[in-house]
This record gives sequence, C-alpha cells and structure tokens, in this order.
Amino acid sequence: SSLDFSGYLKNRIRTVPDWPQQGVMFRDITPLLQNPKTFRMLIDIFVYRYMEEKVDLIAGLDARGFIIGSVLAYELNVGFVPIRKKGKLPFKTVSEEYELEYGNATVEMHTDACKPGDRVVLIDDLVATGGTMLAGAKLLKKLGADVLEAAAIIDLPELGGSQLVRDSGLELFTVCSYD
Ligand code: PRP
Ligand code: ADE
Repeated sequence: SSLDFSGYLKNRIRTVPDWPQQGVMFRDITPLLQNPKTFRMLIDIFVYRYMEEKVDLIAGLDARGFIIGSVLAYELNVGFVPIRKKGKLPFKTVSEEYELEYGNATVEMHTDACKPGDRVVLIDDLVATGGTMLAGAKLLKKLGADVLEAAAIIDLPELGGSQLVRDSGLELFTVCSYD
C-alpha cells in the first residue's frame, strides 16, 4: 500500500553475500542513506515514534548507529551520546564487554554522558546476535538512565538477538526484518 514504508525502505537495503566472510549475508544500508527520499522516510519513522515521548537523549552505537542517531537527536531537539568501541573516548568511561560470534568486544561511554533518570532511546542500524544492543543498554543503566526503548532499522530474527533483547526486559523497535 501507499503506507508500506518498511517495504519501500527494504528495497534500498542491499544484500552482499559472503561479506565480510563466507556465509554472511551482509545487509548494507548505504543505498538507503544515499537516497534522499528513503533517508528522510527512515528518520521520520523514528521521529514520529519518539516525538511525544519526552526523550532526553539519543544514544547511538558505533559506527552505523551514529549516522541515524545524530540526525534523530537533532530532529527531536535533544542531545546525542556516542557509545564507542574500546579505546576511542578521551575522558573517564564505563565499559561493557560482550560476546561476538568469534571472541569478544567492548563498548564504552563517558561517565558524564547521561545522568540518573535521563530518558534515553538507544539506536543502531541492525540487531544480529543482540550483543551490541544489550551491552549499550547495560552501560546506560549503569549510569542510572531510563532506557525507554532500543531501536534499529533491521532485525535478523533468525540469529535470536531481538528475542534476547526483549527477554532482557528491554523494549525493541525495528523497521525491517530478514528471515
Ligand atoms: C554491526 C552492526 C551492529 C552490530 C550488530 O556492527 O552495525 O552494531 O554489528 O551485531 P550484534 O547484534 O551481533 O551485536 P559492527 O560490529 O560490524 O561494526 P561497525 O558498525 O563499525 O561496522
Ligand atoms: N552485523 C552483524 N551481522 C550483520 C549483517 N548480516 N549485515 C550487516 N551488519 C551486520
């Protein structure tokens, strides 16, 4: 229908087989961002969802969560906080280690990036195993933030991450899904 934004956006997400390794179907959002109509449509979906929710902050996950998170924060007239991969932030940080498919990774946030009671939406481009999103939420909670919802463009439900995130008690909103 004329209101099928999700399908319209999905048509601008490119699938690259066997990247970065054999067997992975990489969901590439660069064509969606490159096109002004789909970029605006995507941001507007998030803006309408959160514009009346008294959001204090948008927290974006390194690196693709920065692209959409900063624009969303600007449109909602709230601040933006980056959750970065280990070793990138210059000031005092809190950190959280999490499991990857092979090995582990660490994300960090500045200790003064938010304060207790701040109403935060956590955003990334995609949920696969859910490890990144869960680690980001843990950092925000460590600082006492109220994580209203986690949001992503893409869900890969077969990897179980979105279920894991929801089972942890965190609300999760995604726009498109790939089975
Ligand atoms: C990708 C993606 C998410 C994460 C999802 O980032 O942008 O942040 O993986 O995977 P998960 O649900 O299994 O944690 P990646 O680690 O490739 O880093 P990048 O954003 O720097 O490309
Ligand atoms: N991050 C983890 N899995 C991914 C995938 N299939 N496509 C894009 N980013 C990812």
